[in-house]
Amino acid sequence: MTTLPSPAQRADILTRADFPAHFIFGVATSAYQIEGAVHEGGRGESIWDTFCREPGRIKDHTSGEVACDHYHCLESDLDLIKSLGVDAYRFSVAWPRIQPSGTGEANEAGLAFYERLVDGLTQRGIEPHLTLYHWDLPQALQDVGGWTNRQTAFHFAEYARIVTERLGNKVRSIATLNEPWCSSILSYQIGEHAPGWHNTGAALSAAHHLMLGHGLAMREMRRLNPSATLGIVLNLGPAYPATPADEPAARIADGTFNRWFLDPIFRGEYPQDIWAHYGAYAPETEPGDLEIIRAPLDFLGVNYYTRSYVAKGGDKPSGAEYTDMGWEVYPDGLRDLLVRLESDYTLPPIYITENGAAYPDVLGQDEAVHDAERVAYFDGHLRAVLAASRAGVDVRGYFAWSLMDNFEWAFGYTKRFGLVYVDYATQQRVLKDSAKWYQALATS
Ligand code: FCB
Repeated sequence: MTTLPSPAQRADILTRADFPAHFIFGVATSAYQIEGAVHEGGRGESIWDTFCREPGRIKDHTSGEVACDHYHCLESDLDLIKSLGVDAYRFSVAWPRIQPSGTGEANEAGLAFYERLVDGLTQRGIEPHLTLYHWDLPQALQDVGGWTNRQTAFHFAEYARIVTERLGNKVRSIATLNEPWCSSILSYQIGEHAPGWHNTGAALSAAHHLMLGHGLAMREMRRLNPSATLGIVLNLGPAYPATPADEPAARIADGTFNRWFLDPIFRGEYPQDIWAHYGAYAPETEPGDLEIIRAPLDFLGVNYYTRSYVAKGGDKPSGAEYTDMGWEVYPDGLRDLLVRLESDYTLPPIYITENGAAYPDVLGQDEAVHDAERVAYFDGHLRAVLAASRAGVDVRGYFAWSLMDNFEWAFGYTKRFGLVYVDYATQQRVLKDSAKWYQALATS
């Protein structure tokens, strides 16, 4: 069994003093992955409820129906977050709790739940960071095409208005979308996420409408609440060619994953090379769309897990380590990414809104979880953030993914990303060694 390096063993242990003044340390979750209670509080169906019922979609045939039962464990989970000593908590609002069928009247029980969450955080001295859309689209909107339907963008702006009216003054920040690459390409082209389509044209149309919805929501929220701190969360990762011959392919990989979203949002245009690469699949846009999409942002949220290594024969980088997801552990990629973003775009301040790793954790006889690899993962990536910050990138905070083990989408409960171990049979929460390590850093 591996054990944590003790501070005595690590002379160079990270402390708050290493980071810029006011840098925040937080933890993150999302609604469908932790809440459960899918039939309570007037919540409507989401595309993930439907997707989980379809045979073969979820590795362990589970769903988010109970998940971490966070909906019922709200107060004790807030105490749990407090016990970690963190400054901030990033969570998402389930659209179908607010508008059960995606349009029309707000559902009071849904708003009240998130208000309780936000007030509970504030009372405990923890900053609430709200994400509007972490993939749980109301099923009623999917029934009329989901994100392939341009109208969904306008419905999203209306939903943003409802949430901002109620919670805009109470939260520290609002992000419109979490990882639009996932809710378009991974969902409508690769088919791994809800709604599980395999249609490239539909995926690119979904991506365009997601970004349009982001821009429309930004306008609406600014109008309502000019002093709110508003942004978007993108999943980004650099693509490294294995050899010079792999450079063109790496450029395409970078373009489809990163620039397809960054360029419209920060430059008001699609990257020409990727537009040409997609050819007939490129999305239909209307005049003015890109102006809406490039709405000024107060922050960019960056989710980073791994890099992409582009090699013709599918070779792997030598000596690489992998997490339980099969994702390479590559902290330098985060530093390179941040430095490159800063040089290629005019950016607002950056928050690392997700970063973390799955490992096959075991709750031992000693009632502890010795996850030394996860500690090393966090430590390495925080050092990469520091390196970028020292190179001049304005990074203001870091949210570990995730507060606790949860429903990992198509992997069900087979992957554990938490700082806190969850025993799903009893809903008992146990701080892993990584949670204690993060707590020591946050309170240092
Ligand atoms: C990100 C998601 C998050 C979680 C992590 C592991 O892509 O935003 O919900 O699943 O991956």
